[in-house]
Amino acid sequence: MGGRAAAPGRAMGTLERWGLPPWALAILLLALATHAAGELTYPWRDVETQEWLTCSQCPPGTFVQRPCRRDSPTMCSACPPRHYTQFWNYLERCRYCNVICGEREEEARPCQATHNRACRCRPGFFAHAGFCLEHAPCPPGTGVAVPGTPSQNTQCQPCPPGTFSASSSRSEPCQPHRNCTALGLVLNVPGSSSHDALCTNCTGFPLSTMEPGGPGAEECERAVIDFVAFQDMSSKRLVRLWQALVGPAAWGPVAPREGRAELQLRLWRQLTEMRDARPGTLGVRLLQALREARLPGLERSVRTRFWAH
Ligand SMILES: *[C@@H]1O[C@H](CO)[C@@H](O)[C@H](O)[C@H]1NC(C)=O
Ligand SMILES: *[C@@H]1O[C@H](CO)[C@@H](O)[C@H](O)[C@H]1NC(C)=O
Repeated sequence: MGGRAAAPGRAMGTLERWGLPPWALAILLLALATHAAGELTYPWRDVETQEWLTCSQCPPGTFVQRPCRRDSPTMCSACPPRHYTQFWNYLERCRYCNVICGEREEEARPCQATHNRACRCRPGFFAHAGFCLEHAPCPPGTGVAVPGTPSQNTQCQPCPPGTFSASSSRSEPCQPHRNCTALGLVLNVPGSSSHDALCTNCTGFPLSTMEPGGPGAEECERAVIDFVAFQDMSSKRLVRLWQALVGPAAWGPVAPREGRAELQLRLWRQLTEMRDARPGTLGVRLLQALREARLPGLERSVRTRFWAH
């Protein structure tokens, strides 16, 4: 298609009378020409003849190598490597692919002739206010409802009754409590939102286990530890019991944000260490500690459950 002569002088005058800025002219002409020819065009003043022409634009992925002349159409050329044009255009050169993916990003779309490079957050990160932030884990007691995506943080939900999540995780949903009865065992500690139901086959210390390592003693010691450590009691009481067991000095500072679930685990580990260090003596020391910690209700339950015969 050759250039078509236009009459910008007259149109310009009209536009000025309407109070429109000169650039409106280009848009108006473009709209008219586009509508007429079904192809994007732009007004161009021929260097030699000073005549206004209507040139074809160049399609995406190309640029104007040479504007149209009265007797020859616009010459378009493909964008060189690392350059692009996304739209129909009359640019004299293609744009440089200037998007650089950051440290926490990966390439979502490589630089191509028709579009700039695009980045998205790497796996494990999501975009927020122009930054890639790490997906947050769901703390114990909550499970992953929807895993994080490049555009959204992890979505957590409190574990509904009958389910639990014991760990901080970016992928684990809440799991159902195990069913002790179905496993042929006795329920030792009911499950909570942050720990599983704890089962045992201990039905009370056999008399012989006053001797260390007697038959069934090991299982019963484990059951006592579970029973005490995972009791539904306040953090304050947990700390008191711990201090009665190891002395105030050994506890160290309690992190203000340390949750009850972590305290329970700490207590559980401490009791397990004590059992392993001096097998067969845990019961006596534990009952004494419960008395010192002023937890008579728990002391009574432990006695009834594990030593009443
Ligand atoms: C546990 O299993 C037993 C027998 O298999 C069943 O009767 C009971 O309803 C189950 N309990 C729960 C809480 O699923
Ligand atoms: C109780 O369970 C332990 C392992 O958890 C097993 O070694 C022991 O034999 C079981 N005792 C009974 C009486 O089932």
